[in-house]
Amino acid sequence: MVSVRNVSKTFTSRRKRVRALDKVSFHAEPGEIFGLLGPNGAGKTTALRIVATLLKPDEGEVAVNGFNTLKKPQQVRKRIGFLTSDMRLSGNLSARDLIFFFGDLNRVPRDMTVQRMKELSDYLEMEDFLERSVDKLSTGMKQKAAIAVSLIHDPEVIIFDEPTSGLDIITSKTVTDFLKDFRSKGKTVIISTHVMAVAEKLCDRVGIILEGKIAESDTLEGMLQRYSTNNLEDVFFNVAQKAGVLKNA
Ligand SMILES: Nc1ncnc2c1ncn2[C@@H]1O[C@H](COP(=O)(O)OP(=O)(O)OP(=O)(O)O)[C@@H](O)[C@H]1O
Ligand SMILES: [Mg+2]
Repeated sequence: MVSVRNVSKTFTSRRKRVRALDKVSFHAEPGEIFGLLGPNGAGKTTALRIVATLLKPDEGEVAVNGFNTLKKPQQVRKRIGFLTSDMRLSGNLSARDLIFFFGDLNRVPRDMTVQRMKELSDYLEMEDFLERSVDKLSTGMKQKAAIAVSLIHDPEVIIFDEPTSGLDIITSKTVTDFLKDFRSKGKTVIISTHVMAVAEKLCDRVGIILEGKIAESDTLEGMLQRYSTNNLEDVFFNVAQKAGVLKNA
């Protein structure tokens, strides 16, 4: 269970201030996939990084399975796997070496790491490139290796920023099936995406984020019903228009 309440975040650089998140609230329950939907720059990555303890909110509260991210960051980190599509693995180490390294870092017993690595590599079809140095892997292979590395400690909560970005249709399906599998094991899954089709296929509930604010949030069916459509793209454009974000539409 992840709960985000009234979280705000402003980035200040020399010239300007960007209010990336403005009193954002959402929650995700075990056994469901929650999707944060929004256009480029809406605040999705910022929100997910805050949940993953990589950034501190200016105000508001985030709890992961009851642990506050500011008060108990270690407890939170133990319970989450954070993935992003631009997690650039690099270097001479092989995927297998990296998986062991992260397993050790997370204090996973070696025999558990071996077993989990086998499961992950079977599922993600990684056997052929487990021994290759990550520098020499394709984008999709790197993505799979990054997934295995991030999930080696079998976290209860999976946070995945843009899960299918840069992946071909086959690898995308492997990744989305994998997330559905997590859901069926009762894990909490949060994704971000700007691709409506991904959200439609994958999410039980969605929150539409526009310019740092949650403009609408509901179950997928609730959302479609409310806007009398069978298509999330229509919902998105309606919500964006109402919020005044589609100035030229
Ligand atoms: N470290 C940072 N320093 C300054 N501004 C930042 C920083 N990170 C994000 N921002 C700004 O915060 C806003 C939200 O960015 P964020 O990366 O969260 O958007 P996003 O919804 O993930 O977009 P995308 O779909 O393009 O990935 C943007 O205006 C961005 O420029
Ligand atoms: Mg982003």
